Amino acid sequence: ADNEILVVGGAGYIGSHMCKYLWRRGYRPIVLDNLVCGHRAAVQWGPFIQGDIGDPETLDRVFSEYDIKGVLHFAAYTCVPESVDIPLKYYGNNVANTINLLQGMVRHGVNRLIFSSSCATYGVSDGTPMSEDHVQHPITPYGRTKWMVEQILDDVESAYGLRAVCLRYFNAAGADPDGHLGEDHRPETHLIPIIIKTALGQRDFLSVYGDDYPTRDGTCVRDYIHVEDLAQAHLLALERLLAGGPGGKYNLGNGDGATVREVIERTRGITQASIPVRFEERRPGDVPVLIGSSEKAIRELGWRPQYSDLDAIIETAWNWHRRYPDGYPE
Ligand code: UFG
Repeated sequence: ADNEILVVGGAGYIGSHMCKYLWRRGYRPIVLDNLVCGHRAAVQWGPFIQGDIGDPETLDRVFSEYDIKGVLHFAAYTCVPESVDIPLKYYGNNVANTINLLQGMVRHGVNRLIFSSSCATYGVSDGTPMSEDHVQHPITPYGRTKWMVEQILDDVESAYGLRAVCLRYFNAAGADPDGHLGEDHRPETHLIPIIIKTALGQRDFLSVYGDDYPTRDGTCVRDYIHVEDLAQAHLLALERLLAGGPGGKYNLGNGDGATVREVIERTRGITQASIPVRFEERRPGDVPVLIGSSEKAIRELGWRPQYSDLDAIIETAWNWHRRYPDGYPE
């Protein structure tokens, strides 16, 4: 078939939303996932292969069996504080295994890739929305893994003609508006699902890491971007590559931010729950403010985010967690 797209990490949070989006647009998502972080139950829109991108034979099998037109790569570890404690886990998977995936693509003549990069590649900012030409000086191993792969991809394009679009997400959040897919990390470290679990009574309180940052209320500011809007951007970038267009690097954010306290307040409003809070020490690897300007994606990819409102982001997440309080079945 000429509509087969390989989605590595397609059983994970962003990858699974992407597969549904691809399927709705007439593509056939082929999911390769080792299920270390992903969930089998989140794969619903095409074939599933359980395997690891670190294994060349698995890649050869997948690229031989399917007529893959392009690859979307979501298979990475994403826990910033963990990357500070066990960096080799992050370099090993996010960098070394990605090199293995690229080698597989080159062996099989597959030369279009959408890579999940991150605003964590920038490091510390002055607090204004960052554009793509902001200096990249990541301050954590996680951020460095994404930044290293971006550089590797530049060399790979020059040498092998493999074109890549790097999408630098700000803070991915929200859930499938139909309520079928959501965010289920084990353990969960991300702010919005943890607030919601506290609202549901699954946790006694929410830890807020630091209230002395140089921000409007002392807590960190992040630019939350809906997972469905991320999926839209990936499809636009993929279709541009499939049509022979160039690779590039794009921020995906809403261009404004919310503090941790503001996210808690909004969630209280939506859930009508009290959400007890405890203030604690700063968390390693956190920077005060991360806000992205996405003018370039809007201009060059035609990206039109549909869920920019923080309430819409929290509501879709709340709906999924209420429906699946224990997450995906194992
Ligand atoms: N936070 C809390 N309490 C919690 C969880 C989070 O106060 O229980 C705070 C964090 O300290 C941070 C903010 O909420 O200030 C957001 O934290 P998240 O863990 O939800 O997300 P991050 O900002 O750490 O996200 C980062 C980068 C992304 C990257 C992602 C990977 O901004 O680019 O980690 O998971 F992709």
